[in-house]
Amino acid sequence: MDKFVVCGGKPLAGEVTICGAKNAAVAIIPATILADGPCRLENIPDISDVKAMFEILQKLGASVEKVDDNTYIVDPTTINSCEAVFDLARNMRASYYLLGALLRPIDQHLKGFASMGADHRLIDSGDAIEVKADRLIGGYVYMDVVSVGATMNVMLAAVKADGTTIIENAAREPHIVDLANFLNTMGANIKGAGTDVIKIQGVESLHGTTYSIIPDQIEAGTYMAAVAATKGRAVIKNVTPKHLESITAKLREMGVMVCEGDDSVSVDATAGIKRCNIKTMPHPGFPTDMQPQAVALLSVAEGTSIVNEAVWESRFQYVDQLIKLGAQISVNGRIAIIDGVKSLTAADVEATDLRAGAAMIIAALCADGESTISSIKYIERGYDRVVEKFKGLGADIEKVSV
Ligand code: UD1
Repeated sequence: MDKFVVCGGKPLAGEVTICGAKNAAVAIIPATILADGPCRLENIPDISDVKAMFEILQKLGASVEKVDDNTYIVDPTTINSCEAVFDLARNMRASYYLLGALLRPIDQHLKGFASMGADHRLIDSGDAIEVKADRLIGGYVYMDVVSVGATMNVMLAAVKADGTTIIENAAREPHIVDLANFLNTMGANIKGAGTDVIKIQGVESLHGTTYSIIPDQIEAGTYMAAVAATKGRAVIKNVTPKHLESITAKLREMGVMVCEGDDSVSVDATAGIKRCNIKTMPHPGFPTDMQPQAVALLSVAEGTSIVNEAVWESRFQYVDQLIKLGAQISVNGRIAIIDGVKSLTAADVEATDLRAGAAMIIAALCADGESTISSIKYIERGYDRVVEKFKGLGADIEKVSV
């Protein structure tokens, strides 16, 4: 079992380069299945979620060639099975990793498929869902909740359907636009991605392409929060500053200086951090995937902050771990009240999930002494070369095998 050992108390400084977006990659990699030829994917993050996704494609019979750590060529024309993916999914279902995902509602995904003529039924004693359609026909779907996954899934189903599909109340995240751009470079006809109405005119076929994935907004935000929490100063490179606006706005409210370049942002928190209230919302609101990192940051801000988690229920379980590190936080339902403290104290904590794990790194970097973080497999699901990148900013962090 691997752990991170972090010796905190030192401001981060220097520069860090952000990689491709996890949430774009995990949708674009399976989307290659739709092509009639090979797709070259660039700026792919080196994370375990991506490896799992490529493994599923290989089990289906696709050829996956790794050109370098961030570039892959997928040839889907050799796909010959859909049984293997079922077996793999079964195995994964038994793992902790998918438990959270399985507990999430997917009614909006199914509503979208139904509007295109697909039926679904529970199989395997309710353990799996079978979705069946003789042919998919364009449909109209109004999403009752703004869902990133359901919007992307309906887009994927609609690109080669007969006729036009309209998604109303669609999610607007940058990775939705990225998936649409990728599919359009393959010959799809998708309009309106990035707004709340997406129109997809089905096409006969899609061809192979070369595509570079957008920078990871959440990875960038995580390093911005870490630099701020340690009262440091650094440049975050290879980002799209527009995608970071909600994070930048909140950091500025905390008194942090954020300067936007063309494809970088610089963060200077040497003057300290002030309290601030945050409510998570679908894009362009403050991302829920930045909420734990923001709470870790506000734990060392001057004054009392309120964070309202309006997207996911039960996304404050990690708070107990922050409290172990000396944070003063009380949680009531979807609201966390954070009384900022001058400094945190070292402790042994657990990464309860991916973004909670990022929050633990941030908090441990603010704690005097040696902290350990366990269950780092969650962090490695979504953070590319995380130890190397934090070290590059001067952090004292090591991965150790226990
Ligand atoms: C994606 C992101 C995840 C992020 C989330 C919200 C990926 C791989 N994951 O997850 O990191 O936290 O967006 O930005 O991109 N809901 C329903 N019915 C559905 C689907 C969702 O009620 O059919 C609800 C969920 O319970 C949740 C809200 O909608 O309260 C948002 O979920 P959704 O946007 O679908 O999240 P994911 O796409 O799973």
